[in-house]
Amino acid sequence: MDSASASASSPEAEEDEPGLAPPARMTTVSRHYFGGASSEHDHALRVDIVENIEEDYGMFVWPCSVILAEYVWQQRTRFSHSRVVELGAGTSLPGLVAAKVGADVTLTDIAHNTEVLNNIRQICGLNDANCKVVGLTWGEWDEPVFDLHPDIILGADVLYDSAKFDDLFATVSFVLESSPGAVFITTYHNRSGHHLIEFLMVKWGLKCLKLLDGFSFLPSCKADSLQGNIQLVEIALEKAKPK
Ligand SMILES: C[S@@+](CC[C@H](N)C(=O)[O-])C[C@H]1O[C@@H](n2cnc3c(N)ncnc32)[C@H](O)[C@@H]1O
Repeated sequence: MDSASASASSPEAEEDEPGLAPPARMTTVSRHYFGGASSEHDHALRVDIVENIEEDYGMFVWPCSVILAEYVWQQRTRFSHSRVVELGAGTSLPGLVAAKVGADVTLTDIAHNTEVLNNIRQICGLNDANCKVVGLTWGEWDEPVFDLHPDIILGADVLYDSAKFDDLFATVSFVLESSPGAVFITTYHNRSGHHLIEFLMVKWGLKCLKLLDGFSFLPSCKADSLQGNIQLVEIALEKAKPK
């Protein structure tokens, strides 16, 4: 996660209307357009996101999320009848796009982080998206993780803290094991060539099915406001169990 690129990810943030009482928090609503020219006047889908830049990492639309959401949109026929789980969803832009194109979506974030989870519920309401919202902390084996059987796991900017990699991949591997044929699609800031992904694949018995430069499929109007070396990788179990 690059804080330098953070401010560029909310192209049309609008501050709350000033009222008699000052707002308790710096809440904004950003608008994200998909299809057509991906502009305010020419788009097929608009998703509105409530953000709070002063709060948690999970209260902000990070650039990796913009890129993963665009990928979901461009691959929408693949997503339209799939079961999708988003890990570390934060403001949940990719999962919301999946829901809007017809996927059955579960949005998850840290189980005890009620502020982020409540914000996700608010965003689902704002976009009339019928998603399940579930507390799921990586590496913890509470009930929700046993009920997940997705076709596709999404994760935007979830590879940002190496101290959390083992917990994240323990959860990803468990869900892949319990969901034959499932894949994990994640976008991340590439700071190590491809060594990090190679290391994680070997360590967790996974294989890389696809590796894309995140900017290679992004419309220029979105690419212009983002920075960094963001990769998209699609991962599956090395030894897939039969469906
Ligand atoms: C950098 S933010 C990315 C948020 C969102 N996916 C995006 O790209 O805009 C990382 C997200 O991972 C979540 N997260 C961090 N540690 C976690 C853990 N141990 N279990 C589950 N989620 C976690 C955070 O709450 C946050 O929403």
